[in-house]
Amino acid sequence: MSGSDAKALRLEGLRAEVVGKEILHGVDLVIRPGEVHAIMGPNGSGKTTLASAVMGKPGYKVTGGRILVDGEDVTGLPTHERARKGLFLISQYPAELPGVSFVDLAEQVLDREPAVVGSTLVAEAERIGLKPELLGRSVNVGFSGGEKKRAETMQLAIFGARYAVLDELDSGLDIDALRDVARRIAEMVRAEGIGVLAITHYSRLLQELKPDKVHVFAAGRVVRSGGPELAVELERTGYGEGGGAD
Ligand SMILES: Nc1ncnc2c1ncn2[C@@H]1O[C@H](COP(=O)(O)OP(=O)(O)OP(=O)(O)O)[C@@H](O)[C@H]1O
Ligand SMILES: [Mg+2]
Repeated sequence: MSGSDAKALRLEGLRAEVVGKEILHGVDLVIRPGEVHAIMGPNGSGKTTLASAVMGKPGYKVTGGRILVDGEDVTGLPTHERARKGLFLISQYPAELPGVSFVDLAEQVLDREPAVVGSTLVAEAERIGLKPELLGRSVNVGFSGGEKKRAETMQLAIFGARYAVLDELDSGLDIDALRDVARRIAEMVRAEGIGVLAITHYSRLLQELKPDKVHVFAAGRVVRSGGPELAVELERTGYGEGGGAD
């Protein structure tokens, strides 16, 4: 038990299955406040499964191990309870919420007067480069790929998460959008001390996010860990043998 109550997002021997098949075969990671950890790994190696299992997405069944948030075991909790404990996931494919606007969502989550919620949203939208007129529309419905990722980053900023899992935040983003969202997240790391687990295929995102650690993920487990230089090496050499699924 020693150290398990220290402030961190801690994965201990995490195993998870999807549609009856084990995809995660025991993942150990410790992300402390103010740290950025990157996960890189081939398509189908289980990175999205890891993000989904951490967030408690239905359909992803944890079959072994634990997920701890600042020492508290959240493994059995539903997604909204995990969010309340400080976890936030930016999905590879952000969900659309027809009929629910950002204003509706923020009023539910923030529990402040509508005027305060409105001005918080507008300020954050401007900061992240999201057109304010999108705030009144259904969340992510009809948004471009870049608008979705900016909008998710805005939510991360206003909902006060302590640990963020970013599943390919950079996919589908143009150069300006990538820089804007990455810089905003780097600022949250610096100013608010959030911990970040950033899943990515490219070192470009990491040039902005500046990870403390880079982990190579293959066939459902972490197979190698190193410093930021590992991302550059991987981009040059590829994953080599033993990379792909299973
Ligand atoms: N809902 C699901 N139904 C069936 N199989 C799934 C489901 N989710 C994941 N899998 C399988 O689990 C394995 C890991 O998928 P996952 O999406 O976690 O990979 P990934 O590392 O995120 O890949 P990518 O880099 O392409 O995003 C794959 O073989 C995938 O087909
Ligand atoms: Mg994925």
